[in-house]
Amino acid sequence: MKVERGLIRSDYDWSLNLLRQLGRHHLPTLQHSFRTAQLMGRLTEQAEGTCPVFNELLRRYPRPDVVKLALFHDIGKIFVTDSILARTNNHLTHKDKALLHQHVPVGAAICNGFTGFPFPQRYFALMHHADRNATLGLNYLRQTDFPAYLLLQGLETIDWLAAVVDPARAYNGQVPLEAAVRQIQSAFRNTSLENDPRRIDPLWQAPFTAMINSGVDPARLPVPNNVDDIDSHWSRLVNRFG
Ligand SMILES: [Fe+2]
Ligand SMILES: [Fe+2]
Repeated sequence: MKVERGLIRSDYDWSLNLLRQLGRHHLPTLQHSFRTAQLMGRLTEQAEGTCPVFNELLRRYPRPDVVKLALFHDIGKIFVTDSILARTNNHLTHKDKALLHQHVPVGAAICNGFTGFPFPQRYFALMHHADRNATLGLNYLRQTDFPAYLLLQGLETIDWLAAVVDPARAYNGQVPLEAAVRQIQSAFRNTSLENDPRRIDPLWQAPFTAMINSGVDPARLPVPNNVDDIDSHWSRLVNRFG
């Protein structure tokens, strides 16, 4: 059986095609996905060996799988109208916001049909964009599967950081790295991140701080400039993070 980027060949072709569709539909979302994947890889590198719960997390969810989860976390945006993706948050109607939110269950459905995707659909659905159901689900996961809960909280933090420092950020403007890190650090102290402190877990503070102190600049991470670059950037991810 031919294996490509840790996936059997047909799954690799299928998933590469999905990323190409995302890039053709809305290039900044594809770039955001690659940024999120690299940061998630770096965050879990910093976490490894620092405390037993992170070792358990990485034993259950190996880094290549975590990076893949991050790479596909917004794949459901293929089906969100590009004019909504490009609009500012403040300029979205109620209906637009509801349509935008559909990228979460749609992404879960896409990845559910993908045998190379290592995570249960529910992780995907709970993963990001706090709403009442996601928060209830996360609280339940916290009781029943703490490593999975922690993984999703880490991804939520990284997703937020990658989004706000994005040079192509369509709404509210790009946030300087120092200001974004300050907000996240205050959220670790249980104040707020986008008004919902439950979406970030203080256990991530040490690895997150170590990652920032290592000098990574999330806004300058290499990302594909067009859909023909996707294959080489995916290779780079696999070479770097396994
Ligand atoms: Fe998202
Ligand atoms: Fe995202």
